Amino acid sequence: MSTNIFVTLNSKINRKKEMEATQKGVTLEDLQKHKSTDFLPLNGTDYIEFYVGNAKQSAYFYQVAFGFELVAYAGLETGVKDRASYVLQQDKIRLVLTTSFDPESEISHHVRKHGDGVKVLALWVDDAEYSLRVTTEKGAQTVHPLATTKDEFGEVKTASIQTYGETIHTFVERKNYTGVFLPGYKAINKTFKTKSIGLKYVDHCVGNVGWGEMNKWVEFYENVMGFKLLITFDDSDISTEYSALMSKVVSNGNGYIKFPINEPAEGKKKSQIEEYIDFYKGAGVQHIAVATDNIVETVSELRNRGVEFLHVPDTYYNDLLDRVGLIDEDIEVLKKLNILVDRDEEGYLLQIFTKPVEDRPTVFYEIIQRKGAKSFGKGNFKALFESIEREQDLRGTL
Ligand code: FE2
Repeated sequence: MSTNIFVTLNSKINRKKEMEATQKGVTLEDLQKHKSTDFLPLNGTDYIEFYVGNAKQSAYFYQVAFGFELVAYAGLETGVKDRASYVLQQDKIRLVLTTSFDPESEISHHVRKHGDGVKVLALWVDDAEYSLRVTTEKGAQTVHPLATTKDEFGEVKTASIQTYGETIHTFVERKNYTGVFLPGYKAINKTFKTKSIGLKYVDHCVGNVGWGEMNKWVEFYENVMGFKLLITFDDSDISTEYSALMSKVVSNGNGYIKFPINEPAEGKKKSQIEEYIDFYKGAGVQHIAVATDNIVETVSELRNRGVEFLHVPDTYYNDLLDRVGLIDEDIEVLKKLNILVDRDEEGYLLQIFTKPVEDRPTVFYEIIQRKGAKSFGKGNFKALFESIEREQDLRGTL
């Protein structure tokens, strides 16, 4: 809470400084040179919206399998004639699932081309107008201009810019809104109650982009959105006998938003990134990492509910303690649940990856518990990629 207040204050101070400077004929460019602070303050992930073929059934999957609660809905019953959207929430994670009734709509086109996939990575801001202006002045392409929507709970301002593939970022300013999600959505009082499985917040969202495009998108996040390059992985870090990828992680000023960007690299056989691009028909969101405070409980519950995970062989656990040192968890329990562990200078992390949650081998989830570590599990890459290759081999796409 205190961090958010700080971010809000900081943003207001920056905005005031910027307005004063602009009035004095100083360009934004000049201002940036002298301003060490973040020019695009972000409070966190606001929501992640999927365009899907059947939102009602997808919503059921996220409730029953992942423990999300259905909190809001927009559709025919609420006066929306062309689509249905379900809003699911678990702690700070908010997913929106949208289906169109019109076969010619942009939503239907998206689903026909990509299958079910992420359309919007929405970012919570204090000032949507400023966020759109500062990013478009630096080269972002506007997808949806600034819009103000209102209902009895107040108003929300939104604006969207393009990122990789057909994915967009929507800036959401909700400081004058007390409703459940956005104007137009109605809160749901359900008789069917779901139980949280301990998912807390979005840790990072990974994008897959085409051959040779990683640096272009890293530069986009650096130059247009003020992100910083956090880590680089090349094919010597991430390669197996068969496939390889390259990855760079960018993060915003306060570190609340982390976007690793992957591109395929040459290997003996087809890279998992190339497989994704082939099936998604272009660049898009590869995985969403969600944090838990107790990965053993969360993953046990997910497995009980039928969620499938990538399998690493038992041999992974043979030298685990030599690699990561002492950990709080029982290795036998981790082995049984197939949870992976990695350590960096600051601590360790536990992680596991689901199989794709769509029919196409595209989007999947990572469940992560951080115990000090701020990295992304580099020590697990080889074991993981060999596991993905076994799955690719079963699909005939290796
Ligand atoms: Fe990840």
